[in-house]
This record gives sequence, structure tokens and C-alpha cells, in this order.
Amino acid sequence: MTDIIKALEWRYATKKFDPTKKIPEVEVEELLEVARLAPSSYGLQPWTFVLVKNPAIRQKLRLSSWNQAQVTDASHFLVLCARTDADPQFVTKYIKSIADTRKTPLESLKGFEEMLNGSVSTRTSEQLVDWNKRQVYIALGMLLEAAALKGIDTCPMEGFDPKQYDDILGLKEYNVTATVLLALGYRGDDPAAKNAKVRFAKNDVVIEK
Ligand SMILES: Cc1cc2nc3c(=O)[nH]c(=O)nc-3n(C[C@H](O)[C@H](O)[C@H](O)COP(=O)(O)O)c2cc1C
Repeated sequence: MTDIIKALEWRYATKKFDPTKKIPEVEVEELLEVARLAPSSYGLQPWTFVLVKNPAIRQKLRLSSWNQAQVTDASHFLVLCARTDADPQFVTKYIKSIADTRKTPLESLKGFEEMLNGSVSTRTSEQLVDWNKRQVYIALGMLLEAAALKGIDTCPMEGFDPKQYDDILGLKEYNVTATVLLALGYRGDDPAAKNAKVRFAKNDVVIEK
């Protein structure tokens, strides 16, 4: 078995974290870098990753997450958010960042900017947020795999009230909305760790034509 498959077999959605075990900051920084490097449609990166450090805030968030213990007990807790404002202004910011990074004149990017604005403006704001949320899940997938390769346990979580999260974290101010959560740390004495992994067989999920 390759290291990747071994890590993916090892990982599971951790229900019970050991609250005394902390992920070294250097590892957390690397995982944040994994998220930052995730690909997105047109490269727009319509996301923000909120690392919630304050224990009192995590306690509040737990109550808005069906009281799931992972929110407070995991070493680190990340709220992955989608932008609500991927509008022409945001597109311009992105185009400028391409020009700066690649030392390209802004004028040479005009066509791409117009195309992006076309793609953004044909969507309703609801469709736009929905599109952005799909990009956020790419970062989530990469984080899950990277953490597993490092021997770090995770629990991805959708069981929460996004509206309450947005309020508690003041996310409106940043033009983002809570999309999916990721608790990270080390498993405690968790009965769920012993459960066999349930997946459909390859023939059920892969079609070769
Ligand atoms: C998008 C998403 C949302 C999830 N939400 C929760 C959640 O709120 N609470 C939880 O305990 N597990 C949650 N899970 C974990 C899944 O139940 C779990 O990944 C699935 O049963 C497969 O098991 P495994 O990850 O242990 O292999 C979520 C998983 C994903 C990918």
C-alpha cells in the first residue's frame, strides 16, 4: 500500500479528541499553507480560513454546532468560509495580484478580467456564494489528506448553524460566510476509531468507458 492510501485508511472523522494534545504551531502553519495553495475556479480563491483560538468563542460555537465536542476539544479549530462578494472589485484585486506576482502589465490582463467579470456577473448572488462554497470544499479535501499524511486527526463538520457562526465571528464584516468546519488534533480514547471504514466497492463508484 502506498503512504497516501495508508494515511487515508488511518484517518477517520474523529469524534473524541484528546484535549491535552496540541498540534505544534509549525504543523498548523503548514496546514494553513496547504489551504492557501488549494486550487480554485479561475484561481479566484473566494475563501477565508478562520482559525478560532479563543476558548470562550469556541465554547459559544459548540452550542451552535449541535454541542459537538470536537469544536472545543480538538487542538485547533478552523472555520472555512466562502466569500459573499466575489464582485468586480474582488476580481480587480485578483487581477492586480496576478500582475504583481508575475510582473505582467495590467493591460495584458484586461481580456481575462473582462471574462472573469462576465462569469461573475451572470450569476445571482446566491449562485455566486454557492459556487464559492464549492471551491472551499476543495481546500477542505486537501486539508483532510495533508493532515492524515502528517498523522494529525481531523473531523470535517457541516453540523452547525452558519447564520449563528457568521454572527458570533462577525464574518459579515469580512464579506464571508461560514461554510464547513475542520477540527484538528489527536484522537483520544475514541470508540469510533475502531470502526471499519465503510466505502462502496471500486466497481460501484468508478465507471470506465
Ligand atoms: C462535508 C462533511 C460534513 C461532515 N459533518 C460532520 C459533522 O458535523 N459531525 C461529525 O461528527 N462528522 C461529520 N462528518 C464526518 C462524516 O460523517 C464521515 O466523514 C463519513 O461518515 C465517512 O467516515 P470517515 O471520514 O470516518 O472515513 C462530515 C464529513 C464531511 C465530508
